[in-house]
Amino acid sequence: APGSPALRPPLGWNSWNTFGCDINETKIRAAADAMVNSGMREAGYEYVVVDDCWQATTRDASGNLRSDPTRFPSGMKALGDYIHSKGLKFGIYQAPREETCAQYFNAIGGATGALGHEQQDANTFASWGVDFLKYDWCSPWGTLNDQIASFSLMRDALRATGRPIVYSINSNSAHSNTGPSYDWSPVADMWRTTEDITDKWRSGCTGDCFMGVTEILDVQAPLHAWNGPGHWNDPDMLEVGVRGTFTPTENRAHFSMWAIMASPLIAGNDITTMSADVRTVLTDPDVLAINQDSLGRQAQRVRDFGETEVWAKTLSDGSVAVALLNRSGSTATISTTAAEVGMPAASGYNLFEVWTHAASNTSGAISATVPAHGVAMYRVRTGSTTPTDTFSLRGVGSNR
Ligand code: DGJ
Repeated sequence: APGSPALRPPLGWNSWNTFGCDINETKIRAAADAMVNSGMREAGYEYVVVDDCWQATTRDASGNLRSDPTRFPSGMKALGDYIHSKGLKFGIYQAPREETCAQYFNAIGGATGALGHEQQDANTFASWGVDFLKYDWCSPWGTLNDQIASFSLMRDALRATGRPIVYSINSNSAHSNTGPSYDWSPVADMWRTTEDITDKWRSGCTGDCFMGVTEILDVQAPLHAWNGPGHWNDPDMLEVGVRGTFTPTENRAHFSMWAIMASPLIAGNDITTMSADVRTVLTDPDVLAINQDSLGRQAQRVRDFGETEVWAKTLSDGSVAVALLNRSGSTATISTTAAEVGMPAASGYNLFEVWTHAASNTSGAISATVPAHGVAMYRVRTGSTTPTDTFSLRGVGSNR
């Protein structure tokens, strides 16, 4: 949205995919500590986002939001101060209608959605030091125009506080809706494009149900033109490392695809207990640099062979990031060319595979044998010079 503080895809962590409603201030502080101790902060991650279920069931006598007294007894200002003291930014959750999503589905009691309290809640968030708001429709009520009006109201309320607050919306209703297939660039800094993700490579979902990685890619692919600095398609939070479901190969493929789509990268795993391998995936500097490139281009699916695909993202220095994705359950050879991925004509090209760091030169062919549910991801440059260093996030600039 205009005035967006999110000129690069936001990098962070959110409580929902691992903890759901089972959150408290101890867990959120531990996540903030882990962001620092794991090296995630150093790699560029900054937002610690408390999702649904932090609220008390009622507002106070003045109509102000307050935190659940048992789970967040110190209050949200104190939690924000703690997160800030770690050099991180504070994200919080609210909903535009009468109820938050967990309230609507009766996971917790109460009805403290923002309806009729939009500016009051925005002011409360600003006074708590909130830097990121996830605003989750979760109501069967209303049309697309109702959603546009409602989401615009909170955009204006946030901007009126004078505090830079990343505005992340989810227009999915509790049931059918049109919101996710709408370009929310004028309204929000990032917006969900799909139903909720789950820790499956493929879920079989095409409608109102939990989506796997491959279903989300199919929804996201045609939306590339909407993506850019300050306005990001959001294919939902990462399942990398969540419950240990994905194999190391699947974690790398899922992370690569979200990175090359210039999607917000919001880790959803328990980062206090993650394995060294999961940490290595989430903090890979080359993959993060592709994600954070200043052009903000979402990769386009330039070739779809069915079970294998070629995705390409032009980077600000004229090089191109290429993902060869194998969605199938068996090893496959995937091939493309420098021309097909959008490189200018040249006598030769240098390929740098970002996970293995293998470098090679080619006159144009780009081909790899890719394991089931795996990816090969390259940075393609003209010429034959193999870069001696991996390109780092700090090298291409970042939010930090
Ligand atoms: C639905 C959203 O899509 C999820 O990410 C999460 O925020 C839940 N609502 C919380 O109830």
